[in-house]
Amino acid sequence: MQGNGHDDARLPPLILGLESSCDDTAAALVRGRTVLASVVVGQTDLHASFGGVVPEIAARAHAERLDLCTERALQDAGLPLAAVDAIAVTAGPGLIGGVLSGVMIAKALSATLGKPLVGVNHLAGHALTPRLTDDLPFPYLLLLVSGGHCQFLVVRGAQDFTRLGGTIDDAPGEAFDKTARILGLPQPGGPAVEAEARGGDPERFALPRPLLDRPGCDLSFSGLKTAVLRARDGLVADQGGLTRRDRADLCAAFQAAVADVLVEKTRRAIAVYLDEDPAEPAMSIAGGVAANSAIRGGIETLCAETGLRFTAPPLALCTDNAAMIAYAGGALLAEGVRHDMSLSARPRWPLDKHAAPLVGSGKKGAKA
Ligand code: KG4
Ligand code: ZN
Repeated sequence: MQGNGHDDARLPPLILGLESSCDDTAAALVRGRTVLASVVVGQTDLHASFGGVVPEIAARAHAERLDLCTERALQDAGLPLAAVDAIAVTAGPGLIGGVLSGVMIAKALSATLGKPLVGVNHLAGHALTPRLTDDLPFPYLLLLVSGGHCQFLVVRGAQDFTRLGGTIDDAPGEAFDKTARILGLPQPGGPAVEAEARGGDPERFALPRPLLDRPGCDLSFSGLKTAVLRARDGLVADQGGLTRRDRADLCAAFQAAVADVLVEKTRRAIAVYLDEDPAEPAMSIAGGVAANSAIRGGIETLCAETGLRFTAPPLALCTDNAAMIAYAGGALLAEGVRHDMSLSARPRWPLDKHAAPLVGSGKKGAKA
């Protein structure tokens, strides 16, 4: 065969991945553990004036941009569309209009090219990324922390996950974003709060450590954000506004509280995971909040103390992307999973079928 990028029959299949479950439109080409191209087009500008993701605007933008992202990915990889061996698409959980846009385009491509279609759980994409980047052996522990998700998972296989706990309200990224808004800092809030926190005193304001007094690995962040709001209102009432120092101290206190809670809950999740006596104990972290050095550093130290190998994928593969969907799709195909034109888009799709539903569903849709 010539010019189809699949000259060697022993090569793993070339998977086209599509992602459109939230506010990033993405396409990627992945072969085995090699990312040949990964294109992500964000929508922050489209939603900026609304204070959150507007599902209808997101869905339309995905529908308009998915084919362009696919074209760019093919260009970047230097491959023709005919070289694609299978199409993997996020089929949930997420904002339903966006997921539908992706699933419809994937079905059209699959039918036109006559190539297999596989629907991927977005959370499985995040959860399997440490295998793409570091070849982490099963079972490993994963903390997924982003603007839309927060959960501890034991990842046992491409279709085998156990959830040890998760947020019952906001996701940590959501809390960072709301805290930034309360303090008049720009969006996305995480990097802005982290930058302010660098010069602040984490001890000046005593913020709560939600759910630490309760056993288990569930988390809660909405009370923390409310505590920041109260502290701000107190300062405004007392002195008419916030000084730079006030803002930095509040950011430092907030970040320290989130890091404390995440590290303590991780300690508990590690204990449950180690109870199973894994042969090569390992932990990874995924999602945009994994970029936070206080949080990542705290968890890395904890892993060193408890004898776990720690990996953190590069940020571009931690945040929403289609390479993780293509990789997970490849893993599912290898296990014989195929979908047909009846593949449906799912707003909620828990990875662990046996875990009780999580209550929260924040600005970025269902957390499943
Ligand atoms: O994974 P992601 O790109 O998108 C989803 O939410 O699915 O994560 C984005 C979130 C935002 O809420 C952003 O504020 C947060 O990750 N984030 C951070 C940092 N960088 C991004 N949070 C804390 N510290 C950071 N450095
Ligand atoms: Zn995500």
